[in-house]
Amino acid sequence: MDIWFHPSKELDLILKKVAKTAGIDGDFQPQIRTADPRFGDFQANGVLPYAKQAKTNPRAIAEKIVEALKNSPEYDSELIEASIAGPGFINFSLKPKFLNAWLAKYKGEAELKSASSQFFNGKKMIIDYPSPNTAKQMHVGHLRPMVIGEAVKRLLKFCGANIETDNHVGDWGTNFGILIYGIKSENYKLDASNENSLEELEQMYKRGSALAKASEEAANAAREELVKLQNGDPENVALWNEINKVSVSAFDRMYERMSITIDHTLGESFYRDKVGRIYDELTETKIAEEDQGALVVFHRDHERFNKQPFIVRKSDGASNYASTDLATLLYRVENFKAEEVVYVTDGRQQDHFQQLFLTAKKWFDAKGYKLPDLRHVWFGTILGEDGKAIKTKSGEPVRLKALLDEAVARAKAVVKEKNPDIDEVEADKIAETVGVSAIKYADLSQNRTGDYMFSWDKLLAFDGNTAPYLLYAIARMHSIFRKASISPDADFASDASILETEQEIALARKLLSLPYIFELTLSELRPHFLCTYLFELAGIFSGFYNANKVIVDDKAVMARRLMLCSRTMRVLEAGLRLLGIEPLEKM
Ligand code: ARG
Repeated sequence: MDIWFHPSKELDLILKKVAKTAGIDGDFQPQIRTADPRFGDFQANGVLPYAKQAKTNPRAIAEKIVEALKNSPEYDSELIEASIAGPGFINFSLKPKFLNAWLAKYKGEAELKSASSQFFNGKKMIIDYPSPNTAKQMHVGHLRPMVIGEAVKRLLKFCGANIETDNHVGDWGTNFGILIYGIKSENYKLDASNENSLEELEQMYKRGSALAKASEEAANAAREELVKLQNGDPENVALWNEINKVSVSAFDRMYERMSITIDHTLGESFYRDKVGRIYDELTETKIAEEDQGALVVFHRDHERFNKQPFIVRKSDGASNYASTDLATLLYRVENFKAEEVVYVTDGRQQDHFQQLFLTAKKWFDAKGYKLPDLRHVWFGTILGEDGKAIKTKSGEPVRLKALLDEAVARAKAVVKEKNPDIDEVEADKIAETVGVSAIKYADLSQNRTGDYMFSWDKLLAFDGNTAPYLLYAIARMHSIFRKASISPDADFASDASILETEQEIALARKLLSLPYIFELTLSELRPHFLCTYLFELAGIFSGFYNANKVIVDDKAVMARRLMLCSRTMRVLEAGLRLLGIEPLEKM
């Protein structure tokens, strides 16, 4: 038999097949679950409900299935053991020989990636993140879309998706009137290479809007600048372009620091000339209707949205977030051939996306377009230690750069405390990784739909489910190999004897559950499942390492233990990379 990459999934497929050969009809669902480790690795729970519905004896059905399994070429009693328990459960144990073979085959990131590509098999996906609005500095509110978006993208890619990022920046809106008015009245010179430009623009916007609030004249002047921009006045269009350039170069510096890569940036303004088709098609298919001068979509079949329409064109004739998103979706399908679109935003946009998806379904169905799968990956708020949305003392949102700088400074203090002799350059390098990773990991390790409380002490702790803990665990594994002068990529498998001790077996089982963890993480795109797994894996590794000496005289024992060290290290590293964190070999 083949060594199954994803044993529980493979067992499910095989049991369905052998059940058919045993004369058990089509609706038998094996229901494979992870078993209590005392009884084995997996358990099939599906026989009982099947027998109940077929009004037969479950035990007899289970016997038939197990017999057919044992006669199938996909079963090898040296590798796996199937047995019947209780009234008709089937237990499966992977024998140590199977564990060894699996570990021999899935050596490192490359092998894991190629096996994992079966999850999506080249499905064309577009992921929409971090999609900030231009003319504003990045603050702590921009952290989650960047961190979660990047992790989700890496995971999907690793698991076989043909995925591209489309950064849907908000680069078009009424705020540009005020900004242009501010720039002109202060005679401000924009300069994208100046690190502070964006901050200055933001201040200017604040002064401009204060003025517009205080004086009718200023308000009118700002409105006029907006109208001029909308009508294509060359001077205002040039200024608007400059504002976006300043924003985008500041964003790019942040993306680089956060290791985020973006394939396309098609902002809201890109769709200005594409919304006409949306109005026409929604009107012609009677999905949208005029309501007090606006064009709106009522979802009359929906409990809430039947009273809360989706406004696609405002009463002044202007397009909005909804029409832009509809045009964007069509563009992604027609130009990128998207089979799935994943949107990463704040939870407050849930209504928008639900209405967008409902509208898109009706519209695509009516026009005979192929609707891609649509997912909204939303997240909660980061709270300060007072339990309220995190703010600076003066009540401003915390700037992202300041937050990262503080993380790095705190990390540096910790690194120097652990390694008093370390040189400054090295300490800075490690601190940058540890600090930024700690922030990312603190975010990713929480279930994304919840709010979480930001705590410096927790996220930088070297114990617990944190980036420093995992980075340190990996660095220690590297040092095992360094000290023994052995490459972690040597071929341990052919010299290794069969796993034997309780800790070896426990560690191997945990490593083998990685594909299941991918399946779980991907099902709702929740990276915290992967974080929990990595944390548990590192803990099980410690248990193994404390109880089983690795560098021993018996070459075969040493090889199997080194193989476990190497595989654990490579899985932890691959896992962190999927989360957007680059592991270190030394710390
Ligand atoms: N720019 C928006 C914001 O800052 C997020 C855009 C998300 N993507 C989208 N296609 N609506 O809230």
